[in-house]
Amino acid sequence: MSALRICLCLNPVLLNRFLTQTNLLSSSCALSSSLKWTSKSLCCSSKSIVHSNGDTSTSLSRNCPLSGLEDELVGYRLGKKKATEVAHLVWRHVLHKGDIVIDATCGNGYDTLAMLKMVADESGSGRVYGMDIQIDALKNTSSLLDATVTQKEKELVKLFPICHSRMDEVVPENTAVRLVAFNLGYLPGGDKGIITTSKTTLLALEAAKKMLISGGLISLVVYVGHPGGSEELDTVEAFASRLSVDSWTCCKFQMLNRPLAPVLVFMFKR
Ligand SMILES: C[S@@+](CC[C@H](N)C(=O)[O-])C[C@H]1O[C@@H](n2cnc3c(N)ncnc32)[C@H](O)[C@@H]1O
Repeated sequence: MSALRICLCLNPVLLNRFLTQTNLLSSSCALSSSLKWTSKSLCCSSKSIVHSNGDTSTSLSRNCPLSGLEDELVGYRLGKKKATEVAHLVWRHVLHKGDIVIDATCGNGYDTLAMLKMVADESGSGRVYGMDIQIDALKNTSSLLDATVTQKEKELVKLFPICHSRMDEVVPENTAVRLVAFNLGYLPGGDKGIITTSKTTLLALEAAKKMLISGGLISLVVYVGHPGGSEELDTVEAFASRLSVDSWTCCKFQMLNRPLAPVLVFMFKR
């Protein structure tokens, strides 16, 4: 039997669809994986989502920020999608062309690139503010952008060699930030001794919370396989758990029988 655990209250139609899909998949992939899905508040009222013209999508996604992502979440559960891929799909769900976003941990630039592709538009109003404490990481990010985007698109990215706890110093005041994304841990291919830490991650989350607009998202991929990783996850979870239910929907995705798999944490601002 699958060890999938769901601790949330969903739109009944959506929940039924998700469970049906999960049961079908579980029967063919029994015991392949398990996923813990917890939500402080992910509740929807089916009454509130149906418009007179029959269009349900807009208010459905406002009330249920993960609606429409069932396939991706099941894919993660089955080990078919990496945590970063799922994070990107969730960002795509939230972002629009012209949005302003923050990559709090640029690393090798793959997240920066994904964000840029989602927000870059002809008008040039989209922006990606990226930061990392390692110059080598910013160089890698810059090289990746050089190899993959146009000069005009690259100009929408602003890179800063600073700690993410200081993100409010580089993003202009009153900027409407739609996404702040963290990919915690160490730089792949770099010095494994240079890692994100609970203390500065918490400060950065506080800064992100203040900058985020309504409808925005704080997204984290948290690695727990290195020293300090589990403590950092505890810090992130404690932060998310303290956010007001009235203003935030917070959830995490964690593979219970793959204890070293990265954990996804999403904080949606209503
Ligand atoms: C897992 S990597 C990020 C991967 C990256 N997002 C990508 O797509 O390749 C984590 C990065 O966080 C950076 N980092 C560590 N502490 C930081 C801090 N306090 N502020 C900003 N970046 C930090 C590391 O230097 C490392 O490059």
